[in-house]
Amino acid sequence: MHEDLAKILISKEDIEKRVKEIGAQITSDYQGESVLMVGILRGAVVFFSELVKNVDLDVRFDFMVVSSYGSGSTSSGEVRIIKDISQPIEGKNVLIIEDIIDTGNTLKNLKRMLLTRNPKSLKIVSLLDKPSRRKVEMEGDYVGFVVPNEFVVGYGLDYDEKYRNLPEIGVLKEEIYTK
Ligand code: IMP
Ligand code: MG
Repeated sequence: MHEDLAKILISKEDIEKRVKEIGAQITSDYQGESVLMVGILRGAVVFFSELVKNVDLDVRFDFMVVSSYGSGSTSSGEVRIIKDISQPIEGKNVLIIEDIIDTGNTLKNLKRMLLTRNPKSLKIVSLLDKPSRRKVEMEGDYVGFVVPNEFVVGYGLDYDEKYRNLPEIGVLKEEIYTK
């Protein structure tokens, strides 16, 4: 375990198993269809890479960079598109791949914006869900794990851009984010 972690919340093995299950579920739900999988950079990269290998469909990739207004570890009500999807999504089955649903602000606003482009369908796939922190109504269509109200890192998730490469999901030692 990384020395900055207080504990491991979800092991590498448990993540891999769950990602396979989600991939199989998506494969079965979209049988005979094409899907555009849109990863939200940077947090979803690791999850995205593992998930796509487990989706047996006609898949295309795209990516977005979004930023919630304000900084720090809590997000506000608006979302700004820093890098947009590089193709029209009208008439397409779109799957948004995200790392975590926390307050719900990012995905709720993003979903509202993307729906105005008339996709055939739009669903949210999130590795993690922290429902205790929700400020707006927002539910993922595919969720890997529900996590408690703790700041988690690893498997793509960062603290100050660090720890994204950890193969498991853990909770940081308090001294790391209070110093
Ligand atoms: P929301 O808009 O509050 O739902 O937050 C979405 C973004 O906040 C996520 O995409 C993450 O980048 C970040 N975030 C929220 N909770 C955590 C956490 O526990 N660890 C790392 N990043 C987090
Ligand atoms: Mg982040």
